[in-house]
Amino acid sequence: MRIAVLGMGYLGVTHAACMASIGHEVMGVDVDVDKISQLRAGHVPFFEPGLDALTARMVQSGDLRFTASYEEAARFADAFFIAVGTPQKRGEFAADVSAIDSVIETLGPMLDRPAVLFGKSTVPVGTAERLRSRLKELAPAGPDVELAWNPEFLREGHAIHDTLEPDRLVVGTAQQGAPGAITVAREIYSSVLASGTPFIVTDLATSELVKIAANAFLATKISFINAIAEVCEAAGADVVELADALGHDRRIGRAFLNAGLGFGGGCLPKDIRAFMARAGELGADQALTFLREVDAINMRRRTQMVDITRQLCGTLLGVRVGVLGAAFKPDSDDVRDSPALNVAGQLQLQGAAVSVYDPKAMDNSRKIFPTLSYASSAMAACAGADIVLVLTEWEEFRELNPRELAAVVSHRRVLDGRNCLDHQRWIDAGWQYRGFGRRPSSAAM
Ligand code: UGA
Repeated sequence: MRIAVLGMGYLGVTHAACMASIGHEVMGVDVDVDKISQLRAGHVPFFEPGLDALTARMVQSGDLRFTASYEEAARFADAFFIAVGTPQKRGEFAADVSAIDSVIETLGPMLDRPAVLFGKSTVPVGTAERLRSRLKELAPAGPDVELAWNPEFLREGHAIHDTLEPDRLVVGTAQQGAPGAITVAREIYSSVLASGTPFIVTDLATSELVKIAANAFLATKISFINAIAEVCEAAGADVVELADALGHDRRIGRAFLNAGLGFGGGCLPKDIRAFMARAGELGADQALTFLREVDAINMRRRTQMVDITRQLCGTLLGVRVGVLGAAFKPDSDDVRDSPALNVAGQLQLQGAAVSVYDPKAMDNSRKIFPTLSYASSAMAACAGADIVLVLTEWEEFRELNPRELAAVVSHRRVLDGRNCLDHQRWIDAGWQYRGFGRRPSSAAM
């Protein structure tokens, strides 16, 4: 099929490259001309494992092209995917859907033949129905232009896998009048469906809600285990062993029960807030008040990390801190609402001398936190440090040799913000090890 993907963020580029890789002719569209020229050269302007190579390969094959022209995309495609961002509004919990609105306002009047638009972005429930009505007014082809919702569930760091081998595909359509969208979706995803992927057809509102409810559930799971970690700390229990034991219960599962610095990124934090805001608008605000607590538990992890650092060092004034990790999670260079950078920033504001290293997120970190010091390696970040903080669980940090690191620091103190280190190895190498919610004997200071 001929597909246009609107919005070349990490979701859009991944979707475009993956759709090309399963046999479609794809055009990636973005209003940012710099981004388009980078992509045309086969270069992805952010880090996502495997995506650079896949994009370059698809560009070379001619199956993937990029343009800044909506006219060109409208002439080219029969199916469109909307993949623009829906960030948190400034000073409010609600999502800012202006980028989606402007896609519809720009593209709508150009649609003069049958087409299907699939929304992929995470939106407040009711957005799709509103866009559908607007599209009817704008598109010269009128009812021959359908709008469906096909929410995205991909994780950064696993984006290609999650697109080509998703746990499920969900397509929401209007209750009346979207006969073609499901057929088109089946055709587009035929190779994905052939491998047995569940295909869920529902209405627009349910499809919008599936996505945001999934993220709210994941956020709740993380905050649940972090709340339990606080109790473990108080009771002298071990949250990692507890999570392993819980995870054997198939109703619970072990995934997303890693206690530590909590969730960040461009999705979970803003999505739970937007969900609360939308429920409030709908008069169902009581239903989601628990998400306030989920948010509060999560944000508390960041201040607690700063407090523990102060407690371990006696003060923060003039203390040298080596911070390992800046991305919101490993295998990503994304620093949007990164817990790691938040902690690094708080420590510096409270008088510590902070040196940060991340394998991929240095450039992005410098842009949003130019006043922090950045080092060129983990060793360099920890040189002379009074304490080392591991704040993003990159493989490189898990594999650090505590004996080699001991040679460069001033004090052998490590705060494992992601409970990701082999603590016995660090203790054996003479380090004071501190995890989150870990048993004091193994986390002895
Ligand atoms: C999340 C969802 O997992 C995706 O399904 C969804 O499609 C995506 O948001 C989105 O809405 O676009 P992502 O933000 O890439 O994906 O990252 P996650 O893997 O969900 O991690 C989010 C945060 O939770 C990270 O900061 C991570 O460190 C933290 N986390 C995760 C924990 O603190 N503990 C865990 O056990 C798991």
